Amino acid sequence: MSKRIDVSGLTAYYGAHKAIEDISMTIEPRTVTAFIGPSGCGKSTFLRTLNRMHEVTPGGRVEGKVLLDGEDLYGPGVDPVAVRRQVGMVFQRPNPFPTMSVFDNVAAGLRLNGVRKKSDLSDIVEKSLKGANLWNEVKDRLDKPGAGLSGGQQQRLCIARAIAVEPEVLLMDEPCSALDPISTLAVEDLIGELKERFTIVIVTHNMQQAARVSDRTAFFNLAGVGRPGRLIEIDDTERIFSNPSVQATEDYISGRFG
Ligand SMILES: Nc1ncnc2c1ncn2[C@@H]1O[C@H](COP(=O)(O)OP(=O)(O)OP(=O)(O)O)[C@@H](O)[C@H]1O
Ligand SMILES: [Mg+2]
Repeated sequence: MSKRIDVSGLTAYYGAHKAIEDISMTIEPRTVTAFIGPSGCGKSTFLRTLNRMHEVTPGGRVEGKVLLDGEDLYGPGVDPVAVRRQVGMVFQRPNPFPTMSVFDNVAAGLRLNGVRKKSDLSDIVEKSLKGANLWNEVKDRLDKPGAGLSGGQQQRLCIARAIAVEPEVLLMDEPCSALDPISTLAVEDLIGELKERFTIVIVTHNMQQAARVSDRTAFFNLAGVGRPGRLIEIDDTERIFSNPSVQATEDYISGRFG
């Protein structure tokens, strides 16, 4: 069951450098939210605060709250590893475990979660690969290395790996930027299917992609060099692309800067 994300007053630092400041937003379950904005405005940083990956960077820390169905992910006693299981992530460059087989790539997270029975693993691996629209292409090579797949297949393998553990939320940081147009469309179609089960947040520099895949769009911007990134507005995607409330949003999506 997907859950609602509720962020309030979130500020994130790298050591003394404040990268993003005072971000608040809600994200409804089973929606796709796109994060757009110029390079360096903190989209990736903010995304990583949503599953406690930000603090993995030395000096990385946050202030503020991130609630997942009312529970603060930064609350005392919360295990960041458990958070990352609930809030999965897909990165810009497909990063399958290179020496592991296709099967083991998808099974890796399940094994960490204690699933041992071969038949259970097989069932979930098949279901996840089908869910990632990759099954037909790999069903005869499950024992071959994940690194032997094409870039687009590798990215869908990473999506299969992420959804195998049934997260509540799926975070995707420019998941198509290393893919050709056909693989990109395959991943976009997949996002449309996955949102029936998951809450999805996607960072993209591709305005058409944001318009195609997302229900809501958040525009981030920098007030100046060295200043922290801020959320400028978040609204229905249709509205952001037709009639945004803020001039800077309009300038950005129409390509006047950024
Ligand atoms: N590991 C890091 N250590 C120190 N500063 C960092 C680190 N990663 C990012 N930053 C800084 O945080 C700010 C936001 O960076 P971030 O990568 O989140 O931007 P972005 O919006 O994702 O940019 P892009 O569109 O280029 O991916 C930038 O000023 C950047 O230099
Ligand atoms: Mg980024």
